[in-house]
Amino acid sequence: MTTTAPPERATGAPGAGDAYTAAQAAQDAGAAHGTRTLRVWRGAGGTGAFTEFTTDVVEGMVVLDAIHQIQAEQANDLAVRWNCKAGKCGSCSAEINGKPKLMCMTRLDELPTDAPITVEPMRAFPHVRDLVSDVSWNFRVKPQIRRFTPRPPDAPDGTWRMRQADVDRVQEFRQCIECFLCQDVCHVLRDHHKHETFAGPRYFVHAAALEMHPLDTADRIPELRQAQGIGYCNITKCCTSVCPEHIAITDNAIIPLKERVVDRFYDPVGRLVQLFRRKSPAH
Ligand code: SF4
Ligand code: SF4
Ligand code: FES
Repeated sequence: MTTTAPPERATGAPGAGDAYTAAQAAQDAGAAHGTRTLRVWRGAGGTGAFTEFTTDVVEGMVVLDAIHQIQAEQANDLAVRWNCKAGKCGSCSAEINGKPKLMCMTRLDELPTDAPITVEPMRAFPHVRDLVSDVSWNFRVKPQIRRFTPRPPDAPDGTWRMRQADVDRVQEFRQCIECFLCQDVCHVLRDHHKHETFAGPRYFVHAAALEMHPLDTADRIPELRQAQGIGYCNITKCCTSVCPEHIAITDNAIIPLKERVVDRFYDPVGRLVQLFRRKSPAH
């Protein structure tokens, strides 16, 4: 970040006299100020080009702040999707310097200062406009995974008994914010366009949360092998490396599911055992 004097704050702005604004002004005055150049993808329907914008920045800003500032001051029609600005809604996914990331969780000072910062839409999905991709395919995949199907209650009062360790095992998968960064980076979708035959890492996480749930009785293994195409995954771990929730997608979800597929379909002893241990069919 190049350092310059802080810009003068506007006077007479709404709330300019309140304690919060004064505290914010004091904090800004003590922070490093400068400028950064962003190369932002502009265009619609898969066509477009990078446009360069230089904007004032202050220490602590994230890429989404800079995009909002550009939108406010230089490109009012710039399309960008966001919601929480807290890394929890999964809306602001984009490719920053070529890597899938959340714009609201990527600080400008984490990015190299010797070149402009590139910001592009996720490329594994159809482009809508500027930084917005159409991720609706993901929501059509989700219903293809069999729903949670609990066994009958263990006690007459309608409650169940579970070991804490079994409950804990699936909690990791439930952290998913559906940002689809893992889907974006996966070469099976991004480069080979297997959207019709491959559910993708986000949905293997979802399937694992259900398959490993201690109460669940549904059998998802044949569909994971066939319709959801888990065999296409060659465990590159790219999905794990971009997950903002640090879910061990490959090690804890995909590999155990692949092992279940192998045990069921390719291991003769396993198949015999499964005949006796198979879960009851889904309702
Ligand atoms: S590990 Fe599998 S699912 Fe994850 S990015 Fe690689 S091929 Fe895709
Ligand atoms: S598994 Fe991680 S990267 Fe994939 S959608 Fe969920 S939070 Fe995003
Ligand atoms: S705006 Fe919600 S995750 Fe970034």
